[in-house]
Amino acid sequence: MIDGLFHGTAQWYARYRPGIADAVTDAIRAAVPGHGGRLLDLGCGTGQVAAALPEFTDVVGIDPDADMLTAARHALAAAPDRRRVRLLHGPAETVPLPEGWTPDLVTACRSFHWMNGPAVLHRLTKLPGRFTMALMGDGTVWTAAEPWAVAVRGLIQRFLGERRRAGGGHFDVAERPFTEELAAAGFTEVAASYLPVSRSWTPERVRGYLYSTSYSAPALYGDRLPEFERELAATLADHSTDGVLTEAVTWELILARHEAP
Ligand SMILES: C[S@@+](CC[C@H](N)C(=O)[O-])C[C@H]1O[C@@H](n2cnc3c(N)ncnc32)[C@H](O)[C@@H]1O
Repeated sequence: MIDGLFHGTAQWYARYRPGIADAVTDAIRAAVPGHGGRLLDLGCGTGQVAAALPEFTDVVGIDPDADMLTAARHALAAAPDRRRVRLLHGPAETVPLPEGWTPDLVTACRSFHWMNGPAVLHRLTKLPGRFTMALMGDGTVWTAAEPWAVAVRGLIQRFLGERRRAGGGHFDVAERPFTEELAAAGFTEVAASYLPVSRSWTPERVRGYLYSTSYSAPALYGDRLPEFERELAATLADHSTDGVLTEAVTWELILARHEAP
């Protein structure tokens, strides 16, 4: 894992990261036989997937960022008594699952691109039984096409360099589509769908969102953070209408199945 990938972002993440679209959770529900059961959430972050799928009453979440897990514990604490949530600290490639436990649904939301995909998928295919796999993500302000987002990306690049940061390192787009990785690992019924949603932002929410990301975490700016904040506020004011910025977002959802031979 990249050093300091989400360092200092968990509280911003918990407060400002948009939730998972209903269209995505509806499509996942429709794909899981029997609806509900055991959920394995890889790169669970602050617990958004488990929170959005409450009918999964036995949850194992995995994440290597201890602050993210603390936020997830807090967010999921209000879960009904009948729900069991276990949060495991470490990377999805290696953290041992609870003895004898197998999932009905495995999710990786906005997180699979941080993992060694083949290693994680290979591990999953060794599990007994059958499960549905759901990989999903909603893009980022870094990749959005709206003029305000392009201006914000330019501003970040002016402060942090052209390449997209990822904590202490940089992010490079995966060479192989996740659909191909799943098929190569032996998953079947691999299918991608694209679900459009629109979002409205305020400048304050854009700032909070940016501080939840690995490419614009507050720590990356060091003592230039106040200067960045001033320029960000001016950029967003220039681009907003009545204090609102809109964004057309497309969620990608990849569903697949695995059944032990
Ligand atoms: C953008 S957040 C997504 C959190 C959550 N799934 C959501 O959608 O809100 C990415 C998460 O992946 C985690 N992550 C990074 N590398 C990982 C790995 N090798 N195994 C498991 N999780 C990882 C990060 O710590 C971070 O919490």
